[in-house]
Amino acid sequence: MALCNNDMDLATKNFTVQGVTYTRNEELLGKGGFGVVFGGSEGHVIRLFGMNKIPQMISFVIEFAPQSLYDKFKMKSVTPDEAHKYFKMLVDGIEFLHSEMLVHCGIKPENLLICNETLKLADFGKSKRMKNKDQKFKNEECIGTKQYAAPELWKNVTVEGRPLDIWCCGIILRQLSQASMEFWEIADISDKQYSRWMELIKGGKVTRSDFCYKFKPATMSKF
Ligand SMILES: Nc1ncnc2c1ncn2[C@@H]1O[C@H](COP(=O)(O)OP(=O)(O)O)[C@@H](O)[C@H]1O
Ligand SMILES: [Mg+2]
Repeated sequence: MALCNNDMDLATKNFTVQGVTYTRNEELLGKGGFGVVFGGSEGHVIRLFGMNKIPQMISFVIEFAPQSLYDKFKMKSVTPDEAHKYFKMLVDGIEFLHSEMLVHCGIKPENLLICNETLKLADFGKSKRMKNKDQKFKNEECIGTKQYAAPELWKNVTVEGRPLDIWCCGIILRQLSQASMEFWEIADISDKQYSRWMELIKGGKVTRSDFCYKFKPATMSKF
């Protein structure tokens, strides 16, 4: 839902909290790590302006973003220059989150919103706070959209958080640079597309240049 403000449009996001017991003071809502990241986003996290708790629901008032990277892909409108710019913003945003001891665990084009040509991370529904940078999490807590799940999530019971976000950045880079959103179902050797990709890499047939911006703008229209 978008509301009008003199300076910018705002959106609200509501969370149903049925069954969740809140022991914390409501005034503290948005004051923890979550609020810090939203509030001091350095430009690459969607901004949070306020939170309100009403019975069985928390309402977030956040900056409105008219588009997501997913919308851009669907509209076949990403140019190589934009691909470069968006990837850099994505990496900056992830670096910022990790420096604030948070892992996102849900990076995908739908959760990368675009406001005034700036890419911003959104949807912290699966994000986790790290006690230390190598902290391990249960794999089942970190699997969101399976296509974006890192290979170790299918192999190990516990995984480090930060590499999961970095894996997703690689997937997004591939989507941005190869003009295709199609890839494997899961990043596991049991998946034919993934194992074919791995064979190409091992055979030296996929090289660094596959991730470089040497494609022509016309190629991008095949998204
Ligand atoms: N601040 C926002 N401004 C505009 N659209 C938004 C905003 N936040 C989310 N959306 C839209 O709503 C969709 C779902 O929101 P999201 O926060 O990702 O929740 P979830 O994926 O858990 O349903 C997003 O993919 C995006 O299209
Ligand atoms: Mg989402």
